[in-house]
Amino acid sequence: MTQIWRLFLLCATGFLATPAVGQSADSQPTIQILVAYHSLSGNTERMAEAVAEGARMVSHTQVVVKRVGAVTAEELFAADAIVLGSPVYWSNMAGEVKTFIDDWQFKFGVFPEFKLRNKVGAAFATGGQISSGKELTMLSILAAMLGNYMITVSGGGAFGASATTEGNSLGIDEQELAGARELGRRVAEVGGAVKRGFQLPDHRESVDVR
Ligand SMILES: Cc1cc2nc3c(=O)[nH]c(=O)nc-3n(C[C@H](O)[C@H](O)[C@H](O)COP(=O)(O)O)c2cc1C
Repeated sequence: MTQIWRLFLLCATGFLATPAVGQSADSQPTIQILVAYHSLSGNTERMAEAVAEGARMVSHTQVVVKRVGAVTAEELFAADAIVLGSPVYWSNMAGEVKTFIDDWQFKFGVFPEFKLRNKVGAAFATGGQISSGKELTMLSILAAMLGNYMITVSGGGAFGASATTEGNSLGIDEQELAGARELGRRVAEVGGAVKRGFQLPDHRESVDVR
């Protein structure tokens, strides 16, 4: 065989062996996780980084960490899982996070097709005080995800991961960061199970009681 044919065959087998987009070399699909957050004084950002760290512990996972206002339509729709974090403002999510959720329709047009259907969703929050709205903040985020027919999961806490940042607290501690990592890991594991395992139908149910 001539040198030129050898080169051609080498290139051709290399091309055929190249994994498809979203597929890793050992043919497991890659899970894309978007961690989006708002943060003014850095607490929720620290939790976002810990969520991402936990997600990256699971193999075949790609993570994008972004402030809510900087997320593009491409990033939103490419994500298999969306983890959304907010500081508590007056016992609920920050306006910036609510605006991002509203933009799922106003900017990204998710309705009426329910384009986020079957993506995995989760929430995390930081609040100044022990009991002043972290759980409500996470539940409000999860409610918006449920309204979009997403598959919501918890982890690092009953409703998601959270941290207390003011008052008697010395700031986010290692246990709270571990909770955030746990949430990220669980989102990646469930995201992987959904993508690899269950084949969920992509059609709307004929009965919608809203
Ligand atoms: C306008 C405003 C309202 C807040 N309201 C609450 C509240 O109702 N409950 C609470 O626990 N903390 C409240 N906080 C404290 C923040 O939730 C807390 O400092 C948070 O960790 C800030 O997150 P960041 O560092 O990511 O910006 C409020 C802070 C601001 C600025």
